[in-house]
Amino acid sequence: MILLVKSGGESSLPEWRVLFATLLPELEVRWWNDPEVRAEEVAYAFVWAPEPGRLARYPNLRLVVSSGAGVDHIVGDPALPCVPIAKMAAPEAVARMREYALATVLFHHRKLHRFVANQRARIWREEETTEAARRSVGVMGLGTLGLPAALALRDVGFRVRGWSRTGREVEGIETFSGRDSLPAFLGGTEILLCLLAATPETAGIICARSLAMLPAGASVINAARGSHVVVTDLLAALDSGHIEAATLDVFDVEPLPEDSPLWTHPKVLVTPHVASLPDRAARARFVAAAIRAFEADGTVLNRYDPARGY
Ligand code: NAP
Ligand code: GLV
Repeated sequence: MILLVKSGGESSLPEWRVLFATLLPELEVRWWNDPEVRAEEVAYAFVWAPEPGRLARYPNLRLVVSSGAGVDHIVGDPALPCVPIAKMAAPEAVARMREYALATVLFHHRKLHRFVANQRARIWREEETTEAARRSVGVMGLGTLGLPAALALRDVGFRVRGWSRTGREVEGIETFSGRDSLPAFLGGTEILLCLLAATPETAGIICARSLAMLPAGASVINAARGSHVVVTDLLAALDSGHIEAATLDVFDVEPLPEDSPLWTHPKVLVTPHVASLPDRAARARFVAAAIRAFEADGTVLNRYDPARGY
């Protein structure tokens, strides 16, 4: 049985092979474009952004494990076979996103972008800030990554609110669900952190209309997918002063094109899609756990639900 791998570039294959040799010794590990792969022997695929139509070529494919927590890079395939998909949920992936949430929310909370600009201009100026207990942080998306991030922010002392599709009760966090509650959620959010799934419903959700619902001086962080933000609307809100600053980790086109105005905008921090990048060993452990759980009784870890779209 073959485990087909497309994650991290072909040069990473030797490392994957070493990792899987211990974790899944019974599987033959082959690279995605290996011309000698016998299609009928492919049982598992561990992939990032497979070309449309490719997964349908393997008649005995049992399980796809997404190399990312998001699956938009897989499920846009019109020929996607009816095979279960496990979304990456390595504990390290969750921990890394929690770190990114803490780092960026604290960056905006303490208005560090202002000090960065002031330093460049050799300006010694205090900026008024407040304590975390008086700052409200709104987390959009309370899933595998969003909920742990929200809990960590709560534990630092922020007033945390969370928005999701179905709603849930979380101790110490004010929760909101559904579109109708978006104005109330955003109206009380001073630092917005987006960790939503990318679906047609959430595309463009951070737009002129929703930005206007945030209080003046709010900051925006997007660590989910580029599709969530209408960049021209965000730039307009930054330039008008309504939005204080933004941190963006994900973009419609990656790498971010050289001529993007985001690179040089004084109120924007760009990070190159690094919010949660667990190392190969951590991802390999999750792949092995997903395959073992599936083989044991058909359980699909962190399963993608086609009906929900995430
Ligand atoms: P997840 O477990 O699938 O959670 C998605 C969350 O989005 C859930 O809370 C869900 O609500 C909410 N949601 C979906 N549709 C919604 C809607 N129409 N209205 C309101 N809420 C909606 O996803 P995850 O694993 O936490 O990943 C979150 C995001 O992070 C994804 O976009 C992923 O691609 C991105 N990501 C980025 C990086 C990076 O390095 N930048 C790394 C990993 C993941 P319910 O709770 O009600 O279902
Ligand atoms: C990265 O963006 C992921 O989806 O894990």
